Amino acid sequence: MDPPITSFRTLGELEEAASRRSLDALWAYIQGGASEERTLRANRDAFRSWGLKPRVLADVSSVDLHTEILGARVGVPFWVAPMAYQGQVHPEGEVAMARAAGRAHVLGAYSTLSSRSLEEIAAASGEAPRWFQLYLQPDFEVSRSLIERAERARFSAIVLTVDTPVLAVRDRQSEGGFAIDGSIPIGNGRDVVPPTRGPVRQGELYRLRSDAGATWEVVDQIRSVTRLPVVLKGVLDERDAREAARRGVRGIVVSNHGGRQLDGAVASLEALPAIVAAVGSSLEVYLDGGVRRASDILIALALGARAVGIGRPLLWALAADGEAGVERYFSLLATELATSMALSGRRNVAEVDRTLVERTGP
Ligand code: GLV
Repeated sequence: MDPPITSFRTLGELEEAASRRSLDALWAYIQGGASEERTLRANRDAFRSWGLKPRVLADVSSVDLHTEILGARVGVPFWVAPMAYQGQVHPEGEVAMARAAGRAHVLGAYSTLSSRSLEEIAAASGEAPRWFQLYLQPDFEVSRSLIERAERARFSAIVLTVDTPVLAVRDRQSEGGFAIDGSIPIGNGRDVVPPTRGPVRQGELYRLRSDAGATWEVVDQIRSVTRLPVVLKGVLDERDAREAARRGVRGIVVSNHGGRQLDGAVASLEALPAIVAAVGSSLEVYLDGGVRRASDILIALALGARAVGIGRPLLWALAADGEAGVERYFSLLATELATSMALSGRRNVAEVDRTLVERTGP
């Protein structure tokens, strides 16, 4: 099949192609992180502290990118991270994302705050597995109804985001004039509310919304209303990973929300090895944050991630050329990954082991 015609030819051209097509305020939303964006930068820098040590003469005449994520066979060890409001980025939003992911057999995770409904996304996903990302709602009945809808629409896991009890201070977004303030339509219905900033008025500095009061019991509560596996997204401390495992969580996304939540938080890649060591034998560990190229994927996999979530680059692809952009993106990244695996002497994902990487930086 010929690759679609798009405004970018390489992964390196993509960000620039997307920026040309995006309004300034939206671009600040896509690109921005929390506060002074230390964690946003740290996520990328962390990959530069590791080098690959390829093996040679390993018969790499065929390379297989397939893997299993929570028992589902997928085409590649990367997946679509949940990202809100994709309708702001392209008129077809998550439906374009899901169609392209479906064709490439890429696992897609879709946000509570999607611009299109989860039912529309399911219909667009084809046979590719999909996960529903849950932002805990102030009224648990609203969360329950979203979970039930996801089950009916054949989503295969609930991804509970746990790093957003309140929305972070985001300078770049505020300066760019993009506000998540309830004025952006949410495809999943009017009852659904986005996380909001916490401290609102002087003298009331720490009065947070009721959904910020969630504790570990909410994991049990969610498990009691669904038969779907629960994945926790936004864990950086191995003690939380152990607690998650103890409560029957099936997967953990080591993530700092792409540097959009706690600024100063450690890079996802830095947090990964300790979490894999703590719980890697009892549940699946994934990573997101700063993954751009095949070498990043190989480093994360070698350090124990089962698969990696891709965020901003997919918004760039969607902004640049909609469904065709996402399709080309998957094809470019998969080609680069297969090539890098061959050049590493690894024929399949299982062969991407700890001996592939060596710490080369601070
Ligand atoms: C929403 O999840 C955001 O990070 O903007």
